Amino acid sequence: LIHQREYLSNGEMKTWDGPVHEVYSPVCIKTENGLERKLIGSYPICTADEAAASLDAAVAAYNNGRGEWPTMSVAERIHCVEQFTGKMIEQKDIIVKLIMWEIGKSFADSTKEFDRTVEYIYATIDSLKNLDRDSSGFDIVDGIAAQVRRSPLGVVLCMGPFNYPLNETFTTLIPALIMGNTILFKPPKFGTLLHYPLQEAFMNSFPKGVVNVIYGRGNAIVPGLMQSGKINVLTLIGSSKVANELKKSHPKVNRLRAVLGLDAKNAAIVTPHADINLAVKEIITGSLSFNGQRCTALKIVWVHRSIADQFLKELCDAVGELKFGMPWEKGVALTPLPETNKIEYLNGCISDALENGAQIMNENGGASEGSFFYPAVVYPVNDKMKLYYEEQFGPIVPVVPFDDLEETIEYLIESTHGQQVSIFSNNADEVASLIDPLVNQVSRVNVNSQCQRGPDVFPFTGRKDSAEGTLSVADAIRSFSIRSLVAFKMN
Ligand code: G3H
Repeated sequence: LIHQREYLSNGEMKTWDGPVHEVYSPVCIKTENGLERKLIGSYPICTADEAAASLDAAVAAYNNGRGEWPTMSVAERIHCVEQFTGKMIEQKDIIVKLIMWEIGKSFADSTKEFDRTVEYIYATIDSLKNLDRDSSGFDIVDGIAAQVRRSPLGVVLCMGPFNYPLNETFTTLIPALIMGNTILFKPPKFGTLLHYPLQEAFMNSFPKGVVNVIYGRGNAIVPGLMQSGKINVLTLIGSSKVANELKKSHPKVNRLRAVLGLDAKNAAIVTPHADINLAVKEIITGSLSFNGQRCTALKIVWVHRSIADQFLKELCDAVGELKFGMPWEKGVALTPLPETNKIEYLNGCISDALENGAQIMNENGGASEGSFFYPAVVYPVNDKMKLYYEEQFGPIVPVVPFDDLEETIEYLIESTHGQQVSIFSNNADEVASLIDPLVNQVSRVNVNSQCQRGPDVFPFTGRKDSAEGTLSVADAIRSFSIRSLVAFKMN
């Protein structure tokens, strides 16, 4: 049990004696009332006052770009981040276990999340070293000798998602920090406790006020932070609705930079020329890994009517082979869901589809117990159903039959989302004819593979309501800085 009572603000651990939020793991235990979530700890419910004081600490540490941190050399900032990373690695065991207990991610995937985060930090450091080397010289053009610098932007409000509570928080926090910005960081609603062991590492690796961590209810503390006008960059991996509301509440929205990873409804298109076996293999992990709770998950599958029966049979067989269980079990693919009202929502999507003529195609599809939800393959899905439009963010695979590929392109054109798409086809001409129309709708077209964010050096973004700004190693450095010029007139 971790009963956390401290939060990092202005370079010190402040003790909290106010109300706390109790954290229940999605991992259930058997009680006389049935399966119940297990209490694993608690954290402070800070108020808008503590949040405002922490924001002021970040503002003071930035000091209009004249603070110790934004004026430090790149090499010194890198040194601090390396120090922090070393301390973080020492905490690996506890952080991995907390990821597993807080969000129900398998032990193997929780470990991957940790390792990937460390790799991301080192890749960011390397990328910045290269950039720094490139920008240390002068370009002489038309009698002007100019040095291009990358300068920080100010105070960054950083909020990561529950599904990658460590990794996706750090894919924004670390580049923002290393570029000389100061940080106010609010951990996600699920996946909060795991940040506790890192507070001391932040405190001991960076100057006072450079990183501040605030805990509490987002809707009680975040709007006030935005309304203060003191935030220069909002970075959020979450819903586009929340991002829009927060942006609008900033009094000088034209001066706010937003780096956002938002909703997605990634589609797979399985053409008559697909290798069905390969498509099924990719779609299974693409739509159901971490129970479908990935922004890059495949959330709708379009299959050509001529191969639909065979595809569905193979897909349902493959779902039946997935191991369902506790996150620490070896080879487990499906685990309990952290969001308490999620099962109700998923059941609602399924009922809506059934009422509109679809069926559940796999045995036990949609069954639930405690926080476990057995994946459902739903077919035929059509435009009357929620599953056609909504990002279910859970273990349901909606399958839509099509006769003409043009229908799939139209779907993507009309969609409010624009993150990624996967095409499954072994016909090169067919693939070529799809790439151009699709690459103008989404930010990544995958051929014969599932949608995914990595490898992390590739740009990660989305069109329409799916993103703002670009992440990944080098792009993240760019996203959290501005190119400025020092120009000397040569006489
Ligand atoms: O949840 C959104 C993540 O960006 C997905 O990342 O494709 O590596 O699982 P991933």
